[in-house]
Amino acid sequence: LLCLYFLLWDQGLPDQSNIMRTLAKLCLFLLMPGLVIHAQTPVFNVIPQPDQYKLYPGAFELNPQTVILVPENEQLHHIVKEFSAHVKQVTGFEPAITDITPLAPAINFIMVTLHDSDTMLGKEGYSLLVEKNRVILMAQHPAGIFRGIQTIRQLLPPQFNGKQCVSPQAWRMPCAKIIDKPRFPWRGMLLDCSRHFMEKAFVKRYIDLLAFHKMNTLHWHLTEDQGWRIEIEKYPRLTSVGAWRKADGGGRYGGFYTRDDIREIVAYAKRRYINIVPEIELPGHSQAALAAYPEYSCTGGPFEVQTEWGVFKEIYCAGNDSTFVFLENILAEVIDLFPGPYIHIGGDEVPKYRWEHCPKCQTRMKQEGLKDEHELQAYFIKRIGAFLTSRGKTLIGWDEILEGGLAEGAIVQSWRGFDGAVEAAKMGHPVIVSPTSHAYFDYDIKAIDLEKVYSFDPIPADLKPDEAKWVLGGECNMWTERAPQSTVDSKVFPRILAMVEVLWNYPEKRDFEKFYDRVQLHYRHLDQLGVSYGLEAIPVSMSAQWEAAGFKVALDPRLENLQIYYTLDGDSPTAEQAPYRTPFHLQQSATVKALAYKNNKAYGDVMEYRIAVHKASGRFPGTNVPVSPNYTGGGKGALTDGFRGSLDFRDGHWQGDHDGNDRC
Ligand code: ACM
Ligand code: ZN
Repeated sequence: LLCLYFLLWDQGLPDQSNIMRTLAKLCLFLLMPGLVIHAQTPVFNVIPQPDQYKLYPGAFELNPQTVILVPENEQLHHIVKEFSAHVKQVTGFEPAITDITPLAPAINFIMVTLHDSDTMLGKEGYSLLVEKNRVILMAQHPAGIFRGIQTIRQLLPPQFNGKQCVSPQAWRMPCAKIIDKPRFPWRGMLLDCSRHFMEKAFVKRYIDLLAFHKMNTLHWHLTEDQGWRIEIEKYPRLTSVGAWRKADGGGRYGGFYTRDDIREIVAYAKRRYINIVPEIELPGHSQAALAAYPEYSCTGGPFEVQTEWGVFKEIYCAGNDSTFVFLENILAEVIDLFPGPYIHIGGDEVPKYRWEHCPKCQTRMKQEGLKDEHELQAYFIKRIGAFLTSRGKTLIGWDEILEGGLAEGAIVQSWRGFDGAVEAAKMGHPVIVSPTSHAYFDYDIKAIDLEKVYSFDPIPADLKPDEAKWVLGGECNMWTERAPQSTVDSKVFPRILAMVEVLWNYPEKRDFEKFYDRVQLHYRHLDQLGVSYGLEAIPVSMSAQWEAAGFKVALDPRLENLQIYYTLDGDSPTAEQAPYRTPFHLQQSATVKALAYKNNKAYGDVMEYRIAVHKASGRFPGTNVPVSPNYTGGGKGALTDGFRGSLDFRDGHWQGDHDGNDRC
């Protein structure tokens, strides 16, 4: 009957078939609940995976009789009210919220309770008991209850995480006992809203997505050479001038957050137990600010808000006391807007050229007995650090703040590998670990795929156990030079799933294949949340080996069930042609275009590899400076391996060297 119904419905019924239609609908209505309940055996799949869990037979059903029991506590009331409102939105029924004492004789209930003395769970831990007619969620702190609610959301059917009212549906979750808490207290994501301005609603959406995955920190990159994004009352030109750069086709490009926008976003994050760490870059990456106020540079300008990507020599003048007054006034307003304990001041990638040639900066160095410009940078950061300390805030900086002496109490964020984390932890400073090797989600999937992120251990191997305690956790960094808002999802997801798991519950025995299977199930939630996730890995990798005056080229599928199609004539490959089966030989330079298909659908974009055959092919030139670990390009032989790099210096084919003097 069900088939008949769909068949008739599909074909479009003639008017005289109304009786038939009604009959079919009636049968469908009668059959549906049984079918749905049968089809929706609840699955236990939570990302990040809980620390300890045990499954039991049976399921709890959230239904119109379900009552939520909660003690008198404002924060808990807020959490369960939002949950209950969401239940109403997707199910059509709204669970009543009632006081926990005296215990209502509810047959089917979710009880939320705080146990202040249960210090085992820590601030964000929780225990969750799911039985046939009751769910008991317990934590020491409301943050733990909020994290536990996210587990409930993931245990319920994926449709629960959509926005539409779904009916009919059995809202069931598997019986289980969970005791869960995070391994690391710092679990974050950096969102660069400076290279590309992101709308307020988009930032809030990311806060929701972070919350759903139990992250607790949004590192909000708000100032850059290419745009200043935070309204500062005392210096209006920072946004009237600094927030806008010349757009490619004429006009201007940019935007900024008003003070009210920021307050709104901070409050939104707070209700989701996410702390926002604002990053105000200094002394470098500051050209947008200097375009607005050139008097705080070494030369006096004039400057324009930068339109290219990279590292630029226009930085704040360290010899000018008024620079510090300017920055402290800005930071005072930032502190007013962000109640959290941390302010990130950047400190990365500061070319010293202007300071080397600035009489004021040179005088400062003499007066302060500083031996070089690295010490001048340390002076700069320490002076800002002292100001932040006087306002009760802790300074965070990228690992360059180690150069020339570290500011007291500073937290170091290690990005150029793990060395900064090791050095700072050995000095007894807290560290956040987000190395380019695993945590840079602006990098192509070729360089950092899901498996690579899952292999990330936030604790550097070189730390002894008593030093490892300084590792607060890690972050994934979404820099947006090449990622406007519309592409952010595809870069962050699914890689962030691996990141949240290693930060929440770094598994001693990691099994990527099992994790990969869980990710496939998790996509059903992401679909409901409207996430446009990208690839898990580059579908096809290409290798080329020099052999008999040419390159033997192999195309390797990186995932299961992929068919590969390729061309050498510049045309786009299609599934009409014969699929790739064995390696082929290239004796002339060529562009290989490859496209993968999964389940008869294109998987990812056409990949283009330019292979250069020339006189140095197959030989191994030496270099007299060591290759930068950040840009190995594949190591020895990279310059003659046939592969041409693209314009993206992070494409894995760029080889960089470093002469130790800030020149690359
Ligand atoms: C950085 O990626 N420059 C911190
Ligand atoms: Zn100067």
